Amino acid sequence: MSPRAFGVLVLGASALVAGALSAMAQPAGPAAQPTPTAQPTPTAPARLAQCVACHGAQGHSTMPLSPTLAGQPQVFLENTLILVREGLRPIPAMRGVLDGVSDAEIVALAAHFSAQAIQPPPQTRDASAIQRGQALAARGLCGTCHLPNYAGQQQMPRLAGQREDYLVHSMRQFRDNLAEGRDTQMNGVLRGLSDGDLTDLAHYFAQLR
Ligand code: HEC
Ligand code: HEC
Repeated sequence: MSPRAFGVLVLGASALVAGALSAMAQPAGPAAQPTPTAQPTPTAPARLAQCVACHGAQGHSTMPLSPTLAGQPQVFLENTLILVREGLRPIPAMRGVLDGVSDAEIVALAAHFSAQAIQPPPQTRDASAIQRGQALAARGLCGTCHLPNYAGQQQMPRLAGQREDYLVHSMRQFRDNLAEGRDTQMNGVLRGLSDGDLTDLAHYFAQLR
């Protein structure tokens, strides 16, 4: 088939699609009710608005100690939301937020936030802290699970671009055995690290893209 003939075929197909769309766009009569299948995603806008009040527009958090969700692996978000809904990972700020939320909606919420782009890093950049953090991360083999670029995978969260204060907070909790309801793979990983080490690691990850 010549490229020209192919172009005509494509044009023909898109004209068909356009026709179908304009037919769908006809104003609905008073009897027409939306069917359940007319809603492709079960993520209610009201629910999303609730999340972004704390986790920021597009999942980029500007609230202290409230983590950024943008770009997190979908599996990590799904698992976490199920654990929070079931009360297994206690998050006082999220109490009640996921009550009665279906698995399907959790999958849609996770897909939504996972697909959001990571925003540029904060301007405050401390080159020597980054160097120390990078060395600590290499020595701790963090990249074997969180990936060498720290983008996370499966149930391993993304560290690159996370809020610095939240990283310090969550690493302290793991180190001090206070991370209730969280994956035991982090147990022991941060043992022996000082508060200063955790601050350096957090600064390094927060600046990464
Ligand atoms: C009132 C504020 C608030 C609201 C509303 C809220 N969250 Fe959270 N969320 C938090 C805080 C604070 C944390 C951090 C908990 C901690 O310290 O471990 C958190 C943690 C999380 C985490 C774990 C992230 C990680 O990296 O460990 C996920 C996922 C999450 N929230 C998703 C959601 C979703 C989806 C919604 C909407 C259905 C929502 N949250 C609504 C405050 C909130
Ligand atoms: C054996 C695999 C493994 C290794 C090695 C590992 N992690 Fe993790 N890490 C995990 C898993 C799994 C989670 C998810 C825990 C959860 O949400 O319950 C996690 C969670 C975290 C979190 C919480 C992030 C968030 O958004 O809540 C931080 C911070 C973290 N790891 C830092 C590190 C650092 C720093 C190192 C290296 C010193 C490291 N990890 C090494 C598996 C690992």
